[in-house]
Order: sequence, then structure tokens, then C-alpha cells
Amino acid sequence: MSPSDLAPAYVRAISPYVPGKSIPETARELGLDVANILKMASNESPLGASPRVREAIERALADVHYYPDRFDLVAALSARLAVAPEALVVGNGSNDVLELAARAFLAPGDSAVYSRYCFLVYPLVVQAIGARGIEVPTRGYETDLDAMAKAVRPDTKIVFLANPNNPTGTFVPWAEVRRFAEDLPRNVLVVLDEAYGEYLPERLRSPTAAWVREIPNLVVARTLSKAYGLAGLRVGFAIASPEAADLMNRVRQPFNVNHLAMVAACAALEDTAFVERCRAVNAAGLEQLRAGLDRLGLEYIPPHGNFITVRVGDAARVFQSLLREGVIVRPVAGYGMPEHLRVTVGLPEHNARFLDALARALGRG
Ligand SMILES: Cc1ncc(COP(=O)(O)O)c(C=O)c1O
Repeated sequence: MSPSDLAPAYVRAISPYVPGKSIPETARELGLDVANILKMASNESPLGASPRVREAIERALADVHYYPDRFDLVAALSARLAVAPEALVVGNGSNDVLELAARAFLAPGDSAVYSRYCFLVYPLVVQAIGARGIEVPTRGYETDLDAMAKAVRPDTKIVFLANPNNPTGTFVPWAEVRRFAEDLPRNVLVVLDEAYGEYLPERLRSPTAAWVREIPNLVVARTLSKAYGLAGLRVGFAIASPEAADLMNRVRQPFNVNHLAMVAACAALEDTAFVERCRAVNAAGLEQLRAGLDRLGLEYIPPHGNFITVRVGDAARVFQSLLREGVIVRPVAGYGMPEHLRVTVGLPEHNARFLDALARALGRG
């Protein structure tokens, strides 16, 4: 008997998540100098984190021998979002929060609905439980909420929806999201993933924190990995009804977010000017990338996050050409988009370097 005979068939059937290529991995494989590699693959912040984060972590190093205490982070989020502490679940990244929702609400044999071109973690967490994923076709690359509502079956417990979506960058107006959530049966949970919400322009900013009081089957997942620049520390959270939050808190590890990460998160949340700068740099970077891609005559999906997904034709070949120049972007063939590459917005010089390398890769340099 081997370990694989012990695992349930649904676990053996999982295809592991393939992350974007890292800088050390690329340096090793291509013999490049780490300092010359530009990573625009994983929607990380080109500005790093707020300087206040470093100071807070340095101070907190004195306490690493204690188990972490969630109180300060929960209080900071509660004050900032104007929600009760009981409505919050903190996670080791929002990935953890997505998994906690699946673990709290899905049982083997249940189903969960998500869209085509959705973040691959949704099918993964559903499959890991032995539940069934129902993938709903899109309209072009746009999420089709009507089709998602129609796909809900009596055994459906969760609908996953990202807004903006990754890897497409598409956005559904909040009024439509609200109607969708309200019209679903109350025994179906909407897990609304807002990993890229901070990048939306002011007029489109998410109103959903206040909705959880009125829509008890809504769980909003957010992260500090993107605009707050804490991807490596892993901090995310959910805003939910106290009942849903309580259930998710029961299945999480008692100390799922580490002390340094929580201290960093509190410092990052306080530095609102830094996040504003992130937004401005991102908006300008998107303009720069769009203009460059327009010049190259390439088609891209209108972006709403900190990345742009562009059709380049033979994406695997273009990806390799860029890699040889030390520019890492993200192939999205695993998402069913073999002709596209997803590129994270960088600083102006990063965007320019990518556009030049792309022109060469396409034989137009
Ligand atoms: C749509 C979406 N949700 C969630 C996440 C998870 O982010 P984290 O676990 O770093 O919070 C990502 C990461 O790229 C994402 O793109």
C-alpha cells in the first residue's frame, strides 16, 4: 500500500497550483543575475511595502517567542471598515480565507459554482473537500452573473466571484453584484473575492463591507498582498455575518496569521498615503502599458486591477523570449488562455523594459 492509495480519489485528482516563476528560480535556470531580473508575474506591488511596515516589524521582533494575538489587527480592521469584530476572519493571505469558507460550508458531494477564467484556487479548494465544481461559461471574457445564478443547484453551497477578476481583469458593476447576491437563495453563500479592489478608481470603489449586515449569505474576501505590498507576509481577511465568520473561525488554525505579519498589516493599514500612491502609480502604469500595447497593435482585456492580460499569439514562445531577457510575466494557458500573457503593472521603467522586450519577442523591436 502506498500513500497515494490512502488519499481519496478527489485529492489524487488535484492538479497543483502553479505559481508565477520566481526570481531565484529564473536566475538558476537561465544563469542570469538576480539583480537584472524583472518580475511582472504575480501581481505584486512594484512599490514594495510602506516604510512603516519595516519599522513595525523591527520593533515586533522582540516578541517572536510569543504566540500571536489577533486582537490588534481585528480591532484595526473593525475600526477602518466600520464592521463588528465578530464579522471578521483573518487569514494567512486571502487564499486561506477562501479555503476556510470552503472548509466551513462545503461537504463531500456538495457543489460550488464559479466562472470560467476564475482564479484557480476556487476549483482547488472545492476539489480538496470532495465537493463538485460547476464552471459557468463567460460572455467573451466577462463574468455572466445570470448564467451563474442559473447554474446553482439544490446541492450548491457556495458561489465564488472575484471582482475585479484574475486573470482577466474584468469588472462587474457593484449594483449587479448586489442584485445577484440578493437574488440567490439564502442558503447559498456568495464568496466575493476583492483581492484587486484597491486598484479601482474612486467612483468604482467597493461598497460591500456595509452589505454583510444586510446580506447574511455574503462573505467578502480581501488581501494585503497587493496594494499594501505584503504578499510575502501573507495577510488577508474576510468580512461576513457574525454567524458565517464564527463558523469560518472554528475551522481555522488558532494561530493562522503570524505575529510579524499582523504587526505589519496594522502598520500598512495606517499608511493610507502609501496606498494612494500605489493606486496612482498603478493607474499611470496601466495607461503606459495600454499605450504601448496599442502601438504594437495587440489586443488586451480592459484592465481593472494591477495587471493587464494581452493576446500575443503563441504565448508560450513569447513568454520564453521575455524570460531570456530577464522579464518574467505570467502565462495563463492553465486558465484556458493559451494565446494570452498576464503582465503585472510595474514602475515606469519596468513597463518600458517589458514593452521593449515584447516588441523584440514579436519581431518588431
Ligand atoms: C483573485 C485573487 N484572489 C485571491 C488571491 C490570493 O491572494 P493572497 O492569498 O496573497 O491574499 C489572489 C492572488 O493572486 C487573486 O488573484
